[in-house]
Amino acid sequence: MKIKALNGFKDILPEDVAVWRQVETIAHDVLERYHFAEIRLPILEKTELFARSIGADTDIVEKEMYTFVDKEITMRPEATASLMRAYIQHSMNSARPVQRLFTIGPMFRHERPQKGRLRQFHQLDFEVLGSASARLDAELMSLGAMLFAELGVETSLEINSLGCPECRPAYRRLLLEFIHDRMEHLCDDCKRRSVTNPLRVLDCKKPGCRQQVEDAPSVLEHLCTVCADHFGGVRSGLDQLGVAYSLNKFMVRGLDYYVRTTFEFITDRLGAQSAVGAGGRYDGLIEMLGGPKVPGIGFAVGIERLVLLLRESGQEPVRADEIDLFVAGLGANASDFAFSLVHGLRNNGLRADMDLEVKSLKSQMKQADKAGSRFALIIGDQELESGRAMIRDMGTGEQEEVDLDLETIRRSVEKR
Ligand code: HAM
Repeated sequence: MKIKALNGFKDILPEDVAVWRQVETIAHDVLERYHFAEIRLPILEKTELFARSIGADTDIVEKEMYTFVDKEITMRPEATASLMRAYIQHSMNSARPVQRLFTIGPMFRHERPQKGRLRQFHQLDFEVLGSASARLDAELMSLGAMLFAELGVETSLEINSLGCPECRPAYRRLLLEFIHDRMEHLCDDCKRRSVTNPLRVLDCKKPGCRQQVEDAPSVLEHLCTVCADHFGGVRSGLDQLGVAYSLNKFMVRGLDYYVRTTFEFITDRLGAQSAVGAGGRYDGLIEMLGGPKVPGIGFAVGIERLVLLLRESGQEPVRADEIDLFVAGLGANASDFAFSLVHGLRNNGLRADMDLEVKSLKSQMKQADKAGSRFALIIGDQELESGRAMIRDMGTGEQEEVDLDLETIRRSVEKR
């Protein structure tokens, strides 16, 4: 029996990698402009780190983590918790008052796989530690908007505020009262959530529950003065930077560490999985994990969802495996010469390849074509003797005779 990859785990094939690289290159470029530095983090962490930061009652921690139970370690379901752990462990607050960090890598959640939802997926994760300014929230969202615009992907931005430990408990009580009267019409998940985290009932995707909470009190109308001022600052910051957004009073997010601003970049082109990027502010998280009193905000973009969107928008990636020159050697001597020549060409910066076995010209030209080579150089005994050979443009079929030395071949390829 053939062994296949696990359900929800995907190979990223060479033609996909071309798109991934395009995404990463543009992301690196935008991130440099916003003064971000990269950090690379381990995939395994203590289970407790996720339980404490994401929240023990969340779906992620309750149902979706890949945990080695006997060792009490877990494959990260997201990057924020790990990044906070690293920030605290390396006292990164003393190096710079404001740290702008990003990380890229795989995350693991045992969810039901569907289009845009995997069990191993990849995130581009951005975190800024050390500023409580509402300007930062707006700036971070402008980064997301710029990234999507430069990738040519259409998304819309939705924002909300979840209040803070000062004002949220009162809102939570109000919401509970509202939910209480409608309890019998809610799904089983929501009935359970109404006990553990009633705000999450607002986030349920089931049409029946949505209908029930349509007129639920809005968190935005029950913020304390500090949170309301902060949210006002975020909105005017977005206006100042020309970032379009809409309010979504139902946006709750599935992680418990958020306070005040939350936001999502959404699309209607990926079916049920509408969020391409999402995040929010988490002041208090670092302190709760035993670190200094440093505020923070961040968001993460799902790379698979981004790649799906790029594909759907018809943007063809450049071929990653394209080469400059395929050298075809006819006969044992020419093939031997080609073997050294290809090495020399690579050493001189050209992307070159050949057939390591001695095959017919027809078969080698077929290979040159499949390799996506721009040019082919054909060498037989006669060419070896004269020291000159034909270089063929694989696109136009035009040919040019060149001396068989590295510099001449390189110039001939590069001048076109
Ligand atoms: P999240 O909303 O759980 O937030 O995930 C962020 C993004 O990761 C989603 O918008 C989506 O694009 C992608 N994503 C999540 N789950 C899957 C999945 N199963 N398959 C494919 N893509 C997925 C967080 O993870 C927070 N740590 C974001 C954050 C950073 N908040 C503050 N800083």
